[in-house]
Amino acid sequence: MRETRVFRAPGRVNLIGEHTDHSGGYVLPAAIDRCCEVRATPTGGSTLSVHAADIGESASWTLDQIHAAKRKGDWSDYICGVARELSSAGVSLVGAELEIASSVPIGAGLSSSAAIEVSIALALSSLAGANVDRIDLAKICLRAEQDFVGLQCGIMDQFISLFGREGQAMLLDCHSLEHRAVPIPANVELVMVDTGVKHELAASEYNHRRLDYEEAVRILGKPLREATPDDLKGLPERPLKRARHVVTENQRTLEFAAAADAGDLDRMGRLMRESHLSLQNDYEVSCDELDLLAASAWEIDGVIGARMMGGGFGGCTINLVDSRKLAEFQEEIRNRFESRYGRVPEIYVCGTADGASEI
Ligand code: GLA
Repeated sequence: MRETRVFRAPGRVNLIGEHTDHSGGYVLPAAIDRCCEVRATPTGGSTLSVHAADIGESASWTLDQIHAAKRKGDWSDYICGVARELSSAGVSLVGAELEIASSVPIGAGLSSSAAIEVSIALALSSLAGANVDRIDLAKICLRAEQDFVGLQCGIMDQFISLFGREGQAMLLDCHSLEHRAVPIPANVELVMVDTGVKHELAASEYNHRRLDYEEAVRILGKPLREATPDDLKGLPERPLKRARHVVTENQRTLEFAAAADAGDLDRMGRLMRESHLSLQNDYEVSCDELDLLAASAWEIDGVIGARMMGGGFGGCTINLVDSRKLAEFQEEIRNRFESRYGRVPEIYVCGTADGASEI
């Protein structure tokens, strides 16, 4: 029977803990109320076809050839990558027609790609009647991104898209995958300001940064999550800077979780600022537009904290803003950006949401 089922998976924000997931460190994301939705209809055939409603493009693969499929360098890689990994994990995929539509802005650093991967993984495994454990689904999506799409990312985006909880952020240990809820302070809005910059080199620079700190790990002979700033003395400059970011960002993330538990907004804000400066100066993944947005926000009344968010080289800043000052903040940050760059930035005020589900 051609019964259509609908699945959704959210994008995410990350309060702090940036570029720490790929070395098994700590992150503090929340799933947001923007998601990718998949309408999935089994056909009884042996083809997987997908239509991306937002851009009016389609792609298809026969199931027996999916392992031989080549990377195309576009949105369809996420779907093909996930299908291949599910199949390698022993899920007997069934022929289906999929239609995807997403409310997660693309290229803004809100994890539109993980939302596609996770919603597709949930849809395909459910149609196949396979009850895949959610941790395994996260790992399957991660492998699709690393091995097929080619980004050597960590597990944060896929994990929070599956395990997020409305009203909460999550402190996640990307090594053990232990996690716990962290409260988002009352009357605080999560406001993303989009630079509108999409850096073409973001993926290759992302992978380069990993190579830099892996050199530090080799010299130190222990994982960065176990290292202290003192251990890094004597490292060559580039590995030193990358590793120093990771080591201090792990500390900041744990401290931020404690500050959020205690409702200490000043401390949260200070840690977000330090995070930005570390990403700017040590990890070197910021850009002029992000620096301007963060530095402007630090000066605006009602801003608890602000920093660049996600992979970097463009995308958004995340701003924690007092609800009563939301309108003024938006106006002020728009003006400051516009007077420097001559264009108006998009602003997304995000609510939190539960992880992926069937609707
Ligand atoms: C991207 C990656 C994540 C994470 C962030 C930086 O969003 O997909 O795994 O590394 O960058 O924190």
